[in-house]
Amino acid sequence: MLNSSAQSTVIPRTVLVVEDEPTLATAIAQRITAEGWTARVASDGASAVQAASTLRPDLVIMDIMLPVMDGLEATKRIVAERPVPVLILTARDDEADKVIIEYTDTITAYYKIKRAVIKDKGLYCNAISSEIFRILANAGVPVHFMEKLSDTEQVCRRVDAIPIEVIVRNVIAGSMAQRLGIEEGVIPAKTVIDLCYKNEDLGDPLINDFHALALGLVSEKELAEIYRLTGKINDILVPIFKGIGITLVDFKVEFGRLPDGSIVLSDDITPDSARFWDIETGMKLDKDRFRHDNGKVGQGYKTIYERLTGAEC
Ligand code: TYD
Repeated sequence: MLNSSAQSTVIPRTVLVVEDEPTLATAIAQRITAEGWTARVASDGASAVQAASTLRPDLVIMDIMLPVMDGLEATKRIVAERPVPVLILTARDDEADKVIIEYTDTITAYYKIKRAVIKDKGLYCNAISSEIFRILANAGVPVHFMEKLSDTEQVCRRVDAIPIEVIVRNVIAGSMAQRLGIEEGVIPAKTVIDLCYKNEDLGDPLINDFHALALGLVSEKELAEIYRLTGKINDILVPIFKGIGITLVDFKVEFGRLPDGSIVLSDDITPDSARFWDIETGMKLDKDRFRHDNGKVGQGYKTIYERLTGAEC
């Protein structure tokens, strides 16, 4: 594989091996060294980007499933900084179709202007989202989620993301209450579904079906499927949350296409992207506590986590 040319025996070449499995990393590095090349190992995607920048390797051997940042994202960043050949290593031929999602303790609001760190939020959101994905998948909703990898990571299928945010409102709150002058807490005659065009430069504007089609974001068939799945998700989740004493006020979801063109739910549902109100006390248990400086933000997330997963902290 690493047949060195006459030239490479004169100038020792450097190979950056990016592999989180130590035995495999050592075996590859030894094989490279035996060829008279220099090998350096990085064990996660972020360190690989850093190492590639300082080492300026002649070749990168990259695993795909890596902690912190997956191999495909690391490759993109390395090549963007300096063109270098990258050999993608994968034990399974479908690994390129997977991504690792990491949940952090950072919380943001108002287009990321307001920002803070909430202890264990990543752990709570990963557990909440994994449980919701599991419930939905069991009820026949296609989801990109594959498995919970660690306290703060999950493995999901890579999708071609559809840039539409779909918002479901069972109770009027937030932007709809403000925009239409409706008091928060009013229950609409019919559940409302809003579409927003996911485009930060434009401020994620509210759009309708005609806009979504005119912009070429989805086909008519895909849009119908998105509405069908969204309705089904709501029908499944409302009673689940009611059963644990929580009103699912509203939530936002996104969808993506798998390589076969089918539509899957590709966005998590957590207190970051949904409103949860305690049925008994009316207490808000979601990101609104942070938006409105209500305090006890982590407590809200923890309550959803404990009630949904049955976990005791
Ligand atoms: P919405 O009331 O439209 O906006 P805001 O939260 O700014 O008042 O939000 C409805 C729900 O959708 C709410 O639970 C938050 C979620 N959401 C997101 O997670 N991301 C978004 O970009 C938007 C617009 C909403």
